[in-house]
This record gives sequence, structure tokens and C-alpha cells, in this order.
Amino acid sequence: MGKQTPRHGRVVLVPCPYQGHINPMLHLGTVLHSHGFSITVIHTEFNSPNPSSHPEFTFQAIPDSLSDDQISSGNLAAILLALNSNCKTPFQECITRMAQQKMSDDKVTCIIYDELLYFAEAAARHLKLPSIILRTTSAVTAQSRVAIRQLKEEGWDPWKDSMSQDRVPNLHSLRFKDLPFSIFGVPDNFLELIAQMYDVRKSSAVIWNTMDCLEQSSLEQQQQRCPIPIFPLGPLHKFAPVSSSSLLNEDTGCIAWLDKQPCNSVLYISLGSVASIDETEVVEMAWGLASSRQRFLWVVRPGSIPGSEWIEPLPEDFRELVGERGCIVKWAPQKEVLAHSAVGGFFSHCGWNSTLESISEGVPMICKPCFGDQRVNARYASYVWGIGLQLENKLERKEIERAVRRLMVDSEGEEMRRQAKKLKEKAEICIKEGGSSYNNLKKLLELMSF
Ligand code: UDX
Repeated sequence: MGKQTPRHGRVVLVPCPYQGHINPMLHLGTVLHSHGFSITVIHTEFNSPNPSSHPEFTFQAIPDSLSDDQISSGNLAAILLALNSNCKTPFQECITRMAQQKMSDDKVTCIIYDELLYFAEAAARHLKLPSIILRTTSAVTAQSRVAIRQLKEEGWDPWKDSMSQDRVPNLHSLRFKDLPFSIFGVPDNFLELIAQMYDVRKSSAVIWNTMDCLEQSSLEQQQQRCPIPIFPLGPLHKFAPVSSSSLLNEDTGCIAWLDKQPCNSVLYISLGSVASIDETEVVEMAWGLASSRQRFLWVVRPGSIPGSEWIEPLPEDFRELVGERGCIVKWAPQKEVLAHSAVGGFFSHCGWNSTLESISEGVPMICKPCFGDQRVNARYASYVWGIGLQLENKLERKEIERAVRRLMVDSEGEEMRRQAKKLKEKAEICIKEGGSSYNNLKKLLELMSF
């Protein structure tokens, strides 16, 4: 689908203020912009995106009234519930102000909101504007979140069974231990969020950052239950040229380092923007990497080892090794890293964006989920799609060494590496002319000519 110059009106995007949510929303904005829509991003002051990374969009901040204590609590469910009650009025006022200032050919025609920020639907309804939901996790995650709620209603306590190996009724690929529990806050807040985010209310459609080739049957089941059309448009970052929407500074020096490494020789390690790893596990990780004798690019986000500013817990002997065959950075341009020919494997927490980005580049994964949907994604990557192997226990050096060698070089890992390449080809077909995501984008654009 080529570029169109005439503008079709203005779309307001409402991203949830976390990296794993901002990225897909801004990628969607880039896609819509290339198809003739003007884009305004209305965002919270907390974790606000950097406007200079998208000069083609307009950015408007609204007050979120989060206290410093709330933010530093890290209690995601409570923060999200607070955002939903604090932001509706400022959001409505912001759109009303925009309407007063704009020319008639640049009117807001639609509001697209992250599934977690459902206040935007209520505001859209009040303003008599159509709204669309963006789902930023997998379709199986949605099914399994709803399953947690149902189990609770049927008298189970899924939290009590959260380590059980038993299969989940009606979701046979998942064990109870794979269910997407939140480790933040009380179960009641989590259940309240689930109830709200999967109520489509009066929205017109659902955009989903996933692909038919990955999740066809889950998507079909979702569509059967959903009264509005669902458009799987993944992987969104592959539809449009990617400009960075990082909240942290990317260290691009690691690309120059990768340029000097042989093809498929480097293990990329990152646990995303929220997960943490304790000191003991970091040391085990370091020695496991050392004895695997593989090259590595390791992202250690400042603050991700509780009690340390950055990499202080890493042993001196290990740091010497870093100069020889490793590189450690605070934050990387991940999509570029995964697309680099030197990268042959990804040690990941399996956030949904990381999983999609790895699949898009045919990179097999070592899956070490920490919480929430990462557990579902890890199970699917390893057990269903066969593109990864999952570490189920606390990190231990021998197990890491074996996993890294298997992923990167041993013949045992060949099938996994082959499967990853196959899935990459399928993902490429999805977004090409005639592919499922391509066709869904066409249908979405028709629907958006409201
Ligand atoms: C969170 C949840 O943890 C995740 O499970 C959910 O699916 C989305 O919200 P996060 O943990 O940050 O996200 O993981 P992920 O979904 O993988 O998103 C991280 C994003 O940051 C990716 O787009 C990745 O490319 C980017 N990233 C990560 C970088 O650009 N540089 C890095 O060094 C690490």
C-alpha cells in the first residue's frame, strides 16, 4: 500500500505510559500517518514519550495526578486504575480545546487507546467520537487472563496454584504456572483491570499487535466472542520504517561492536523495561555465559539489579572477559540489534514486543519470563512454536551454560533455529500484499473513513 498525501482527518492516540505499550502505539501511528492521517499523541506526564523522535506527530501532555509515592511503589495495577480515574476529565478537556483550535479539515475523527487506558472510551463516547482499542499483548494472553477470572468465579484460587504443573482447563497448552499473574499489587486490583480491559464497551474495533500465522485459533475464538471486528495487524514495527520511541537513551556503540563479530555468533540478552534480576542470579548468569564460551551483548538496565546502580555485582574476573568477547550496555536499539547478522540468539524475559521482534528476525530464544504475560509468551515460544527453550528454575550457571550452547551451537538446538527461520518467513508473508495483516490493515483503513 503506497503513501497517500491527502489527509483523512486527525487520529488521537492514547498510549499507556510504559515502554512495551508506547512502542506498538507509536508504530501504529507511523502506519496510519503513512496512509494519510494526521496524528496527535495525548499522553500522561508520567513516562512521557520524546516528541523529537516523531516530528510528524503532535504531542499533548495531560496531568495524571500520580503521586511520587504511587510511581515509586511499582504497583502497576494500582497505577493503572489511578490513571483511569484521574485522566478522563483532562483528556476530554484536551480534545475539546483541540476542536476549538483546529480548522474543519483537521478534525479529530477517531481515538485509538491502549486497552489498559479504557477511560479514553468513556471520554470518546462523551465527545461523540468513534474509538478503537489497541491490544498490545498476545491473543492467548487475553484468553488466559479471562480464564483467571473465570477460575476465580468458579471458586479456585489461581494464585494459590500459581506453581502447579497441571494443565489449565480449555487452554491445554498452558500449565497453571504459565498463567499471566501480576506480581504487583493485590489480586482484586488485577481482576478489576481484566474486567475493564476486555469490556469493549462502545468501541468500533480492536487492533491487535499479533499475527494470524501465530495465533489463528485464539484469534478466531476471540472474534466469536467479540461483538466488534478484530484486526490482527502484527508485527506493527515491520509495517513502517521504525523510528525509536525509547524512553531511555539507546547506546548505538553496540552496533559498531556487533559489526566486528562473526555471523550468528552473538547472544543478545535483555529483560525489557520493567523486569529485574537479583544479585545472585546476575552472578550465576555471568559465570554461565563465561563457561558457554559464546559472545554476548548484555543489556543491564540501570536499577534492574535491586540494590545496585548498574553492574557493580558482576565479578572482576568476568568483567575482564567482557573486553574479549562481550559488550554490556544500559539500553540498546533492540530492533536493530535483533536484525543484525551477528546475532544468533536472544536471552529474553519474553515481553510481547521482544517476542514479536525476535520472531520477525528469525532469532531463537532462551525464555526466562518474570511475570504476567511473559509466562504465556515463554510457554508458546518454547512448547507451541518450538523457537525457544524455557528456563523454569532460578538461574543457575550450569543450566545457563547448557542452554546457551544448545541455542547457539549444539546440534540439539538445530530444530529450534530452523523453526525460528521458518516463522520469520511466515511473519514476512503476513505483512506483504495479500498477507493477513496487510489485508486487515486495508479493512481497518476502510472502517476508519467513518
Ligand atoms: C511490558 C511487559 O513486561 C510485557 O510483558 C508486555 O507484553 C508489554 O509491557 P517490557 O517488559 O518492557 O513490556 O517488554 P517488551 O514487551 O518486550 O517491550 C520492551 C520494548 O523495549 C521492546 O520494544 C524493545 O525493543 C525495547 N527495548 C528493550 C529496547 O529498545 N532496548 C533495550 O535495551 C531493551
